[in-house]
Amino acid sequence: MSEKDFYIEAFDNLPALTDNSESMKEMFSHVFYDFLQLQHLYDSAIEVVKTYLNILDNEFGVKFQRNPIHNIESRLKSPQSIIGKLQKKGLPITTDAARKNLLDLAGIRVTCYYITDIYAIVEMLGRRDDFTVIKRKDYIKKPKPSGYRSYHIILNVPVYLSTHKEYAPVEIQIRTIAMDFWASLEHQLKYKTASEIPSEISEELRQCAERIAETDMQMQRIYMQINDME
Ligand code: GTP
Ligand code: MG
Repeated sequence: MSEKDFYIEAFDNLPALTDNSESMKEMFSHVFYDFLQLQHLYDSAIEVVKTYLNILDNEFGVKFQRNPIHNIESRLKSPQSIIGKLQKKGLPITTDAARKNLLDLAGIRVTCYYITDIYAIVEMLGRRDDFTVIKRKDYIKKPKPSGYRSYHIILNVPVYLSTHKEYAPVEIQIRTIAMDFWASLEHQLKYKTASEIPSEISEELRQCAERIAETDMQMQRIYMQINDME
């Protein structure tokens, strides 16, 4: 099977598209070919950020005998969800439109132990003069109406390729283990139900987030007290 046939087959299997005419297939085989290159660029940008995060985490270990990062996960948005999001926004289904309009194609989720670790990591990411901040949202200081808490930062990250340098945006979500626990369950619950969640349940979920945030603060205070004792 040729590479092009491979992409045409991939196109045939896309549930989001209804028009499977030959010209559309031709068009999408190009899109998928471009997509391979895009995927490589964004994958590499993820690696650049992950490497830096690991260096910082290890440096903390050496200096302070403690690691601020509990876990790092990453993902590249799938072609299906890229197409879905472009369609939803009424944009053309091209890699160009995806690159220009979707800033969360490359995503990294960092879970930290303490709230102060989140801000330490944000500050250190900001110190890299080759990373530029495209967007940042502090949903810890200003939680979402759902109760969601996390620090979001989108960085433009340089990738050194064989002949030139290219930039790709990477969305980094940084939160504590406790915030992640809530976000994972809430996400799962929302996806379980096809219909809208009743407002009493949303309110209950928000209250859970509130209590979890209080516990995070309490753990932070305990950590600082014990640290002061040493
Ligand atoms: P998107 O179109 O969803 O990307 O929204 P946005 O570009 O305005 O970004 P925003 O900062 O609102 O949220 C981006 C991501 O944060 C989402 O894709 C989720 O991973 C996460 N997120 C935001 N709000 C919630 C929430 O209420 N619950 C959970 N579990 N996750 C959330
Ligand atoms: Mg998003």
